[in-house]
Amino acid sequence: MTTQQGTSIPPLANSLKAVGPLPAGGCTAVVGLQWGDEGKGKAVDLLAADHHAVARFNGGANAGHSVVVAGERFSLHLVPSGILYPSKLAIVGNGVVVDPWKIAQEINGLRARGVDTSGLRISDRAHVVLPYHKAEDAMREDALTRHTKGPAAIGTTRRGIGPAYADKVQRACAVRVGDLLKPDQLKSRVEAAFDLKAPILAGWSTGDGPSPGPMQIDPLVDDALTVGRELAPMICDTTRLLHDTIRRGDRVLFEGANGSLLDVDHGTYPFVTGSSCVVSGVGTGTGVPNRCVGRVLGVMKAYSTRVGAGPLPTELHDDTADRIRQRGREFGTTTGRPRRVGWLDLVAVRYSVMINGVTGLCLTLLDVLGGFDTLKVCTAYEINGVRDDAFPPDAPTLEGVRPVYETVPGFSQEIGAAQSWEQLPEKARTYVRFIEDFVGVPVEIVSVGPGREQTILRV
Ligand code: IMP
Repeated sequence: MTTQQGTSIPPLANSLKAVGPLPAGGCTAVVGLQWGDEGKGKAVDLLAADHHAVARFNGGANAGHSVVVAGERFSLHLVPSGILYPSKLAIVGNGVVVDPWKIAQEINGLRARGVDTSGLRISDRAHVVLPYHKAEDAMREDALTRHTKGPAAIGTTRRGIGPAYADKVQRACAVRVGDLLKPDQLKSRVEAAFDLKAPILAGWSTGDGPSPGPMQIDPLVDDALTVGRELAPMICDTTRLLHDTIRRGDRVLFEGANGSLLDVDHGTYPFVTGSSCVVSGVGTGTGVPNRCVGRVLGVMKAYSTRVGAGPLPTELHDDTADRIRQRGREFGTTTGRPRRVGWLDLVAVRYSVMINGVTGLCLTLLDVLGGFDTLKVCTAYEINGVRDDAFPPDAPTLEGVRPVYETVPGFSQEIGAAQSWEQLPEKARTYVRFIEDFVGVPVEIVSVGPGREQTILRV
């Protein structure tokens, strides 16, 4: 098959009759080990060079991956970061929830900047985020904010992520990407959604979908069919495509969105997102068995950040937080919200390393810590006066912990220009070694700035 811009993407095999297990261990997964925004986009961009395809397996337009190529910054939300390499397959797996208008906008924006998007494929089984999901998301958040008793607002991105995943699990009225190409099926599903959600939609007055007011079935279906036609050349059975790719001996890089501590099962529940952000999401979110993943790169910042509500044990509210926020440009890629900032929490990171089976670490934003005399690292919690070095992945328990810190020497130099491990100041290297000793996994990559060239490889 020749795609519109002349790139050769191999055709689908005639059938999946090939038997026997897929080759084990040739693929890589990149996952975030904190609360998102760890710099996974850069890590994926870096590793994509050695892989034939990049596949997203979870999340939606709540994610924001920034990649800087030749001084140009790209902010990606739904399109896998691997798109910045021409002619690689970039796959949006079935585990992603796709806002079709947002992805169409993103694709058009990339094309306008000269990026070859011909390798992009979207799973026909990925679920669709429709305007009413965003309305539901916003209404729930507003209602929770108004009620001071009971559960607190999650501080979601209001991108409709939770409601779209909820519809997927509820099954009655969910829309999948493949439905965008089937007018009758799409209409009957949207009609069912309108029936089931009537009480919610009646009060709709906010959200960033079409302008507020009563939602109408027909215009919504027409809009969705129009964008579906635009995306049609990219919609396919991505599970089959991935299996064919791997069976051919090609390597796939699986790109996790959000962060392990936002995982719906293993994160700081209920202040989590709606998807599986950990490496086990590869299997459910792409249909590729996890045994194909031999390398799990865990991406972590040199400090902690969090957007939205929920516990952040090492949170700072002082000048140090402001300084890190400014130096690290800690403002949301998706929502622009200032991120909450804290010292590095190695108790949390070690937990994420454990549940992901991380084989190597990518440490990002180390340059941001330049100029501090000393740095603090959380190495245990005190819970009800008792010291514990395990991470309790439950928000109410975590809210009550007191972080126990070790103080380590800071480094005064700016390190953004360091090209090798040897060029890093000794105290910066000590900080890196402290991390790997504590979590028991080597730091394979150190990132000292946003550019591709500001990366130190240790493997
Ligand atoms: P949702 O994913 O929009 O439902 O938001 C749930 C929680 O996850 C909120 O606290 C969000 O701020 C947070 N969140 C979701 N995606 C990301 C991300 O990519 N980076 C950081 N936080 C995120």
